[in-house]
Amino acid sequence: MVHLREMHINQRRVLAHLKRFTVLMAGRRWGKNKLFIHQVVSMVCNKPGSAAAWIAPQYKFLEEDFEELSGVLTDVIRRRQIDRKLTLNNGSVIEFWSADQEQAENICRGREYDLMIINEAAMIGNLVRLWNVALRPALISRQGRAMIGSTPKGRNGFWQLGERHTKFDDWGLIRQTSFQNPFNDPRELLATRDELTDMEYRQEILAEAHQTDGAVFKNVEELSTLLPLTGPQVGSAYLAGVDWGRYQDRTVLSVVDVTKRRQAFVRSWGDTDYLSQADEIAKICRHYRVGWLEAEQNAAGDVVISVLRRMGIRVHPHLTTLDSKQVLIDSLQFMLEKKTLTLLNLGVQKDELKAYEQRTTKVGHVTYGAPEGQHDDHVMALALSVRSLRDRPSMLAPRRYTVNAQMRARGVRRGRMLMRDEHGVDPFSKRTLVA
Ligand SMILES: Nc1ncnc2c1ncn2[C@@H]1O[C@H](COP(=O)(O)OP(=O)(O)O)[C@@H](O)[C@H]1O
Ligand SMILES: [Mg+2]
Repeated sequence: MVHLREMHINQRRVLAHLKRFTVLMAGRRWGKNKLFIHQVVSMVCNKPGSAAAWIAPQYKFLEEDFEELSGVLTDVIRRRQIDRKLTLNNGSVIEFWSADQEQAENICRGREYDLMIINEAAMIGNLVRLWNVALRPALISRQGRAMIGSTPKGRNGFWQLGERHTKFDDWGLIRQTSFQNPFNDPRELLATRDELTDMEYRQEILAEAHQTDGAVFKNVEELSTLLPLTGPQVGSAYLAGVDWGRYQDRTVLSVVDVTKRRQAFVRSWGDTDYLSQADEIAKICRHYRVGWLEAEQNAAGDVVISVLRRMGIRVHPHLTTLDSKQVLIDSLQFMLEKKTLTLLNLGVQKDELKAYEQRTTKVGHVTYGAPEGQHDDHVMALALSVRSLRDRPSMLAPRRYTVNAQMRARGVRRGRMLMRDEHGVDPFSKRTLVA
């Protein structure tokens, strides 16, 4: 016996409006997974000898999906090849593919399917090309159908596939917000507004795909009002961040008062050698008794970090990758948008912040940076210094909505969504702040 979950009203509506290729752009927790499982299960059970493909952006997603599907089908499974394939008594098969394997273009090679599910499709890099060269061809001989579902992520490849319905009759686009799942409590969904930027809320919950290219930081002028104070203030705790200079740009150190949520000090160095820089940085850190120094690890970072450590400074190395940079910039963006941080009134820093931009590459990756030929070292130092400043007192409360829990589980890595940084340190705890 296979038990099929009853679909909620909007899932039923979607099922009634399927095209051969349907793009389902839905907010988090709308019920995409449940709908896909329903579709796959009803096909493989009703049509002996049929074949379905289940595609996920990463292997770790597949494990969950595989478990859930094999759970539902448990009574009719003949053979179970972990995370790869389920064969049913009636000869139908479900095959699982992750799009992050080395040769993603070989997935589905030589295979034919009646139904293809592409789950969390917006997280698949290069989705359009993958669809054209690997996925679509596997639907030719059986005239298979496809369901491409995800929460949108800007206007990347997923959004582009969604636009195909304007040109082709066999394509459809359906948009659903998280509010359209009757099992979600609307109050809980509304509560996420405090924890997300406006753009994120509209994307994650309302499933709007926005053109995100352009300026990143809001309220720069309004928040950059502080004059530097002479030194540390009684009752305040401090953190610092440093971005090392390379060929043309400067080394920049930013110190932030975490108690009052204000930037306290900025200093930059031109062509002084790293050892003298380290000397001065150590002095400043001691002066402010900074809890720790968040230091970029790339470039010369490694060596200077070990020098600083020998001087007794507590350093958190920060390896800048595309992902970690996004987390870093996201959380600064969030604080400026919500106006929970004030900055020193510094011309260079303001200019860099205002010029800082976000771009989407042709293959749909989002990158951050200064416009061609300009610097971003003040932005990076600031972002590093406030990296572990969490915004929301509400994050301290145990009550937590599942949208965020799911985001975390799904690896949506937003710095500010985590209570502790990767070193396991709670930035609010006095114990760790006092050096
Ligand atoms: N038809 C349904 N009946 C009961 N609960 C459902 C149904 N569809 C979705 N849900 C519930 O809604 C939540 C989100 O479902 P899920 O399929 O994981 O959403 P998504 O993949 O869109 O994030 C889950 O808790 C799930 O149990
Ligand atoms: Mg899902």
